[in-house]
Amino acid sequence: TITVDSAATGAAIGDEMYGVFFEDINYAADGGLYAELVRNRSFEFNATDNRSYSGLTGWTATGTATTVDDGNRLNDRNRTYLQLTGPAGVTNAGFNSGLAVQKGKLYDFSVWARSDSGSPLTVSLATADGSALAAPLKITVKSNTWSRYAGTLRATTTSDAGRLSVAASGAGTHRLDMVSLFPRETYKGHGLRKDLAEKVAALRPGFVRFPGGCLVNTGSHYAYDAASNFPRARSYQWKDTIGPVETRATNANFWGYNQSYGLGYYEYFQFSEDIGAAPLPVVPALVTGCGQNRATDDPALLQRHIQDTLDLIEFANGPVTSTWGKVRARMGHPKPFGLTMVGVGNEENLPDEYFANFLKFRDAIKAKYPKITVISNSGPDDMGVTFDNLWAKNKAAGTEMVDEHYYNSPNWFLQNNNRYDSYDRNGPKVFLGEYASQDAKFFNSLAEAAYMTSLERNADVVKMAAYAPLFANIDNVQWRPDLIWFDNDESWGSTSYQMQKLFMTNVGDRVVPTKVSGGRVVQPQPITGRVGLSTWRTAARYDDLKVTTPDGSVLLSDDFNDGNADGWSPLAGRGTWAVTDGAYTQTDVAAEDTMVAAATGITATDYDISLKATK
Ligand code: AHR
Repeated sequence: TITVDSAATGAAIGDEMYGVFFEDINYAADGGLYAELVRNRSFEFNATDNRSYSGLTGWTATGTATTVDDGNRLNDRNRTYLQLTGPAGVTNAGFNSGLAVQKGKLYDFSVWARSDSGSPLTVSLATADGSALAAPLKITVKSNTWSRYAGTLRATTTSDAGRLSVAASGAGTHRLDMVSLFPRETYKGHGLRKDLAEKVAALRPGFVRFPGGCLVNTGSHYAYDAASNFPRARSYQWKDTIGPVETRATNANFWGYNQSYGLGYYEYFQFSEDIGAAPLPVVPALVTGCGQNRATDDPALLQRHIQDTLDLIEFANGPVTSTWGKVRARMGHPKPFGLTMVGVGNEENLPDEYFANFLKFRDAIKAKYPKITVISNSGPDDMGVTFDNLWAKNKAAGTEMVDEHYYNSPNWFLQNNNRYDSYDRNGPKVFLGEYASQDAKFFNSLAEAAYMTSLERNADVVKMAAYAPLFANIDNVQWRPDLIWFDNDESWGSTSYQMQKLFMTNVGDRVVPTKVSGGRVVQPQPITGRVGLSTWRTAARYDDLKVTTPDGSVLLSDDFNDGNADGWSPLAGRGTWAVTDGAYTQTDVAAEDTMVAAATGITATDYDISLKATK
């Protein structure tokens, strides 16, 4: 029986309660949300980033086609270009199985080119075996100085395996860069792949956290240095990612691949606006994380990043007369984007160094923009020494909001339903910036749903939450589970996507206190696999229990159907438990893993278990 106390008023639930976290992981940007169909359009892929890369990654060549990095380059940030010594040509295979095109739809081709040859370029779209997918395009390169040329292809056949070719049939040298093919139709005309953006929009997110994640707090924090093309593996620095796309340097991404920055800060802000979500950028705190535990010892570098963050706020919100507001306006958005919050750092492992830097960022931001919420974090774990240390520091410093991250078993989510019930109501608010129940079964989604009820119940403390990661390209997965899956022409949501959608599109205004009474009605859920002690002790009622060592020896086993726990007898006399209705019940949960350890001799978290459990 659920009794609703409709007269009482619980915590208000804000519009920003549920949002999304976009990180360029699992090829989420190039070949994903960013609608560009050509892979390695700027020929910047480089073996120093990834041993399998070369300037022609993604391309095949006929005739003399080489990539060149010399003084004839397009610009200092787009250094390598393609040189065709005719007759010659190149063909791009796009992402996944190829370039995806739909019959009747328009595709905008563009290229930067210079040539000493009068011969035109032929641009064609075909399948790998040469069947035409569109009538070819002729482009005449008029001079030997770099200019942009463009044309449109109309697909005559639908295919998910297209190839784009650019060929010079005559003699002479053509130099090409930024070879691009974009679908005319993108989400709200702003360059994002429509089906993917629509899937995010359908969640009605209250905020978009971007661009990472580990992408933000790893790599070098030094700026791109055009002269030496160093460093290549940089942390995500927003100024690298704005302005005309041909002037955006590419980067080697923490997740092991090249990123073009075609999807950059302007596009993130625009996308957030397009889906009615508050933008939440995360800037590097100059302390690395995600396995790279270094803090900068360069005060000038730290100062430069603090200034970059102030500039970012001006880029988002400043008037068109301001330095960075003018840049935004020139990119097409004179109106401010209405930025209200900034995250500083992500999962740093060095709490003292991180927090010292956080305070410097916060002080500088608050001095200039007192209304901006500056979000701190609690390190890489959901608990532990770093977590406690950072929470204590955040409380003492009066931090407004703390970003927590955790990826745990479904049972962890069930067991920790009361996590926030005891959080200090007068301390910092919680931003649950990343969470997911590991694995991708329906049970995981149910565990997340149960947990989300606890987030809402604690909406006075937990102000925002986002499942993570958001996207995964089915052929390029670094992290799972993920919310939205895709290849080059299809996309689908996981069960957790459906669960998030259910909650995110039905956010209440206010928590209404309820009381639950009555019997247990939940059916036991099967749990199998190699799991730790903490996994099974999370459930209060067990059935069909079997604990085995990895080599198959059975340690404990009982179906409890005979009304006793003979197979469980090593535990007799220990803890508080009973067998009723053919199931084993424990009431002394905290002591349970100590009991099992004593009974089985296993103290490690490494054994196989199969059981049915219900709480
Ligand atoms: O969401 C995937 C990764 O998980 C993020 O990059 C990082 O913040 C976390 O460890």
